[in-house]
Amino acid sequence: MTANLKFADSISRLGTESAFVVLARAQQLAASGKDIINLGIGQPDFRTPDHIVEAGIKALRDGHHGYTPANGLPTLREAVAADLHRRHGAEVNPDNVIIVPGGKPTMFFAVLMFGQPGVEIMYPNPGFPIYESVIKYSGATPVPIALEEKNGFAFSAEAVLAQITDKTRLIIINSPANPTGGVTPREEIDKLVAGLQDHPHVALMSDEIYSQMLYDGRDHVSLLNYPEIRDRLIMLDGWSKTYAMTGWRLGYAVWPDAMVDPVTLLCINDHSCVNAPTQLAGIAALQGPQDAVHDMVHQFDERRKVIVKELNSLPGISCTDAAGAFYAFPNITGTGMSAAQAQDRFLDEAGVATVAGTSFGAWGEGYVRFSYANSTENILDAIARIRAIL
Ligand SMILES: Cc1ncc(COP(=O)(O)O)c(C=O)c1O
Repeated sequence: MTANLKFADSISRLGTESAFVVLARAQQLAASGKDIINLGIGQPDFRTPDHIVEAGIKALRDGHHGYTPANGLPTLREAVAADLHRRHGAEVNPDNVIIVPGGKPTMFFAVLMFGQPGVEIMYPNPGFPIYESVIKYSGATPVPIALEEKNGFAFSAEAVLAQITDKTRLIIINSPANPTGGVTPREEIDKLVAGLQDHPHVALMSDEIYSQMLYDGRDHVSLLNYPEIRDRLIMLDGWSKTYAMTGWRLGYAVWPDAMVDPVTLLCINDHSCVNAPTQLAGIAALQGPQDAVHDMVHQFDERRKVIVKELNSLPGISCTDAAGAFYAFPNITGTGMSAAQAQDRFLDEAGVATVAGTSFGAWGEGYVRFSYANSTENILDAIARIRAIL
């Protein structure tokens, strides 16, 4: 008899990250001989710096082959706390730092901790697609925080606060942001934190994974620097983007005291721990020279200027200054194409992989995400090819 499996309803509610789908299609086209320029994927086009790789190799050679504590090696959690003090001046107890395999597990666990039918969770839209996906998976109602071009894709604190109800359990924010490159100014964050004082039942997850990628002299505003909400703040960061370590799977969050035990249980139930060599490489990343990070961000900045200028020279396309991360999010409505049509035509006709804005939520219609984690030469070539088909 053939199987007749009955999956849980929740599985059908899971979404995806379309960048991976575009990547697979781009690779397929490349394998069939087509010349593809990939501006679709959200990962640095740099190698992990050598001293970090060496630390991982040494850890394997030295016999670090077993489990570690579920919340991460104490030395790594101490290194994270010291790094947060160095970068943000924030006081963090290493006991509140939970090491996980990448940035994604923190958002999944935060949503699992609050999400259930009957509650509401707010998330940025357009935003990292996994937020909406896991909120729906949990059974909670996703409430979008609309991010608009006219505000530089920053969120409006007033709009966020106006959407809070007695069912709201968690608000997710992300600055610098994927897919827009938007950076929310300090005044809005001040207003949000002040407004949250009236809503003590609401937790906040601040995804700060692009915290080291800001341009034009902007400083990162970490939510860790607001003591009045530290008892309900989950601050997510990690190694993937900063140290070009996407494939190693290493991330962390600072959790408030009341959530440390439940999230540790989720780690034990889910993955036990992150593998030890990667954690030791993570220590080398935080404690070693930071030149590679600065060089990478400098190169992103140079490419950012090129791509924004070039996109603005295309007919029907306009692009705001991307203030952070490594994405440009041009408005393509003047071309007459929808976001999905533009994504398909750019790939099929121009051989340029990008991601439709709608892959990041309904508010992304009219936009396409270009990742500038690629060489200036390829960026210029990609724009020339798109110009030719427009
Ligand atoms: C805003 C944001 N948060 C988290 C992540 C997840 O990072 P990781 O690959 O470490 O899971 C990404 C990756 O693209 C991201 O853009």
